[in-house]
Amino acid sequence: MKKLFWILLLFSFNQSFAQLSASDNKRVENLMKKMTLEEKIGQLNQYTGNFLADTPVITAEFKNEDIRNGRVGAILNVKGVKNTRGLQELAMQSRLKIPLLFGNDVLHGLHLIFPIPLAEAASWDLKAIQKSARIAGTESSAYGNHWVFEPMVDIARDPRWGRVMEGAGEDPYLGSLIAAARVKGFQGEKLGDTDAVMATAKHFVAYGAAIGGRDYNTVDMSLPELWNIYLPPFKAAADAGVTAFMNSFNSLNGIPTTGNKYLVREILKGKWNFKGIVVSDWGSVGDMIAHGYVKDDEGAALSAIIAGCDIDMEDQIYKKQLPKLVEEGKIPMKLIDEAVKRILIKKFELGLFDDPFRFANNEREKNVINNPDNIKAARDIAKKSIVLLKNENQLLPLSKDIKTIALIGPHIKSVRENLGFWSTWWPDDSARIISQYQGIKNKVSANTRLLYAKGCEVNDTSTSGFAEAINIAKQSAVVIMSVGEQFDMSGESRSRSDIDIPGVQEELIKAIYATGKPVIVMINAGRPLVFNWTADHVPAILYTWWLGTEAGGAIADVLFGDYNPSGKLPITFPRSIGQIPIYYNHQSTGKPPYNDSVAYYRTGYMDLMQNPKFPFGYGLSYTQFKYSDLELSKSKIKPGEILHVKLNVTNSGKYAGEEVVQLYIHDKVASLVRPIKELKDFQKIFLNPGETKFILFNITKEKLSFYNEKLEFVAEPGDFDIMIGSSSADIRLHSSFELLNQ
Ligand code: NOJ
Repeated sequence: MKKLFWILLLFSFNQSFAQLSASDNKRVENLMKKMTLEEKIGQLNQYTGNFLADTPVITAEFKNEDIRNGRVGAILNVKGVKNTRGLQELAMQSRLKIPLLFGNDVLHGLHLIFPIPLAEAASWDLKAIQKSARIAGTESSAYGNHWVFEPMVDIARDPRWGRVMEGAGEDPYLGSLIAAARVKGFQGEKLGDTDAVMATAKHFVAYGAAIGGRDYNTVDMSLPELWNIYLPPFKAAADAGVTAFMNSFNSLNGIPTTGNKYLVREILKGKWNFKGIVVSDWGSVGDMIAHGYVKDDEGAALSAIIAGCDIDMEDQIYKKQLPKLVEEGKIPMKLIDEAVKRILIKKFELGLFDDPFRFANNEREKNVINNPDNIKAARDIAKKSIVLLKNENQLLPLSKDIKTIALIGPHIKSVRENLGFWSTWWPDDSARIISQYQGIKNKVSANTRLLYAKGCEVNDTSTSGFAEAINIAKQSAVVIMSVGEQFDMSGESRSRSDIDIPGVQEELIKAIYATGKPVIVMINAGRPLVFNWTADHVPAILYTWWLGTEAGGAIADVLFGDYNPSGKLPITFPRSIGQIPIYYNHQSTGKPPYNDSVAYYRTGYMDLMQNPKFPFGYGLSYTQFKYSDLELSKSKIKPGEILHVKLNVTNSGKYAGEEVVQLYIHDKVASLVRPIKELKDFQKIFLNPGETKFILFNITKEKLSFYNEKLEFVAEPGDFDIMIGSSSADIRLHSSFELLNQ
C-alpha cells in the first residue's frame, strides 16, 4: 500500500512538469544538476527579515551566513530597495548565486493603504478591486519585492473571527470573482515584468470555518461543503494563474492542512494541476507538533514535504530535518527535486537569474510613492466600499452650506483607525493622510462652522467627554458621529466574543440622539458589528469599515452627495452574537421557522427574529431603482443550453447612481440539500435619473452545477427558481424554469 503511494506520487511529479516550457525546464534542470542536497533544501527555506526594520535588516548573523552559503531561498518582511539589495548581494556571494525571493504582506496596500478587503468586496466592483491590487503590487515590487502573500480568499461566515476583514466575505461566487480579480491585479500583465509580483492564494483551506470564530481553531466539515463553499475561490485563483498557495493554520477533519496530502497533493497539485509554489504559513510546519499530529520536527518535515508543502516559512524545520531524511532514505530525492524545481522555475520566470537586482531600483521606489493617479484610485474604491445602511427621510446627502455641524466620536480625528489592521508601513509619512474631520472640512462651504468633540475613547468606560459632546450637538443643525473598532480589534489573532460597538460608544450615540438633533452615524470596523439600538433609532447610518489612506475624502464625498453610495454587504450582519453563524445561502431544513407564536417543530430561535439585521447583498442608495419586465428565453432548457434572463432596471429617483443587480438561483430538489438561494450573477450599473437599462444574464450549466456526494460537479435535472433583486432579501422579480434530462 505504502509502495503504491510512492509510485503514484512520483508519477504525478513527472506528469505535472511535462507541461512546462522546454527552455525553462532545461535551465532549471542544468542548475539542479549542480546543486548539492544542502543547496536544494536551502531553496525550501524561508526566513523573515527583521520586521519593518530599516537597517540592518537581519541582525542574526547566522541568517546572513545561511544566505551566503546558499541555505536560504526566500525572505519575507524586508523593507525597501536598499535592504533587499543588501541581502541579494549576500546571495550573490553563494556558490551558485541563486537569487533570493523577497515576499511581503500587502493585504490592502503598502504605502498607499486601500480599504480592507472585506470593504472592497462591498464595492462589487471587480475592475476597481483589480486596480487596487495592481497598485499594491506595483508599490510592493518597487520596494524590491517579488512576491505578495495575497489575496486572502477564505470564505468567512463568522464575524467573531478577526480575519473576516481580510477576505471577500461569505459568498463563494462573489469570492471567486474577487479572488481572480486580485490575482490578476497583483500579477499584472505577466510575471517577469518588474511591476508584477507573484500572488498567493491563502489560506488553503477552510481557515474561515474555525469553530466558534476562534482564530486558528479546528475545522470539521463535510467534503461537499468544502468543495461547494470553501474551495471555489481557491480554484478561481488557480484558474487565474496565481503563482503560490499558502497552507492555513487549522486542521481540517483531523489533519493539519500543512500536512494534508488530500488537499495539497491530491486536489491542488493533482486534480487542479497547479504548477506553482506551496508555502507553509508562518511556523505551520512545526505547529503540527502542537496539533498532536506528529511527534517531533522530523515527523513535521516528513508530513509537510510529503503533503506537498514546498517552502517552510520561518521554522527552519526543513533545513534541519530534510537532509538526514533524504540520506536515510525516508524520503526520495525526487520529492525534494519537485519542490526545488517549482521555486527555481519562478525565479527564472521573474528574470532574477538574468538580473537578481532588477526589482531593486531606487528611482522607481521613489517615484511610486504618492502617485496622484494611484491616490485617486484609492479614493474611488474607498467611496465605492461604503454601505448606506439606513437613510430615513432622505437625511443624507447633506448640503454643503449647513451653518453648524457637530462632529463627534473617537474616529472623527483619528488617522490610524481608518487604516485598519495589516497596514504597518504607514508611519513613514503619515502627514499625507487626512482624517475624516479634515475630509469634511475640505468639503463644506466657507460659511459652515464645524464643532468637534471626541466624546469618548473607542474602548474604555469613561463618559466624562459626553457633556461636551452633548453641548456641541445642541448648538448644531446636524450631528455626524464616527465610532467603531480600534484598528487592531479585527485581524489575525483578533477574534472577539463580543462584537458590539466597543466601549461606551453606543451610550454616546444614545446621549446625542436624546438631544433631538438629526444624527448620522458612521461605523468604522473590520467586521460586521452588532448595533441594534443604533440601527433602530438613528435615522442615517453609513458602514465605513476601515477605508485606508483616502477614508477622509471618500467619506466626505458620500456625506455631501458628491458620490451616491453603491456598496452592498458581502457578509450578513447578525442581530445578536447568539445568531452566529448566520449566512444567506443556508440550506433548507425540514421544519418551518418560528413566527410570532412559539410552537413545537419550529427551526431557529424562539427568542429572536429569524432574519439577520442586515442581509447579504444589502445597501441603499440616495436614489431608487425599479426592476421590471423579467423574461426567460425558455421555460425548459436542455443540458448544455444557455438560459437568457432579461430584465429592465430604471432609476426612479432624483440622483444618478449605481445599482448592483443580483441574480440568485434555487435548485429546488437535488441529491444533496441545496442552499435556499445562491448568488450566480450580478451586474453593477450606473443610471441617470429616469434612465432605464436592459440587463442580460446568461445561465450556463456551470452555474446550475454543484459537487454532489461523490464530489462530481453536476447539474441535476429539475426545477430551478430564478430570483433577481437588490439584495439577497429584497427579491424584486421571480421566475422559474426546468432543466431537462436531455
Ligand atoms: C501569518 C499569516 O497567517 C499569513 O497570512 C501571513 O501572510 C504570514 N503570517 C506572513 O506574514
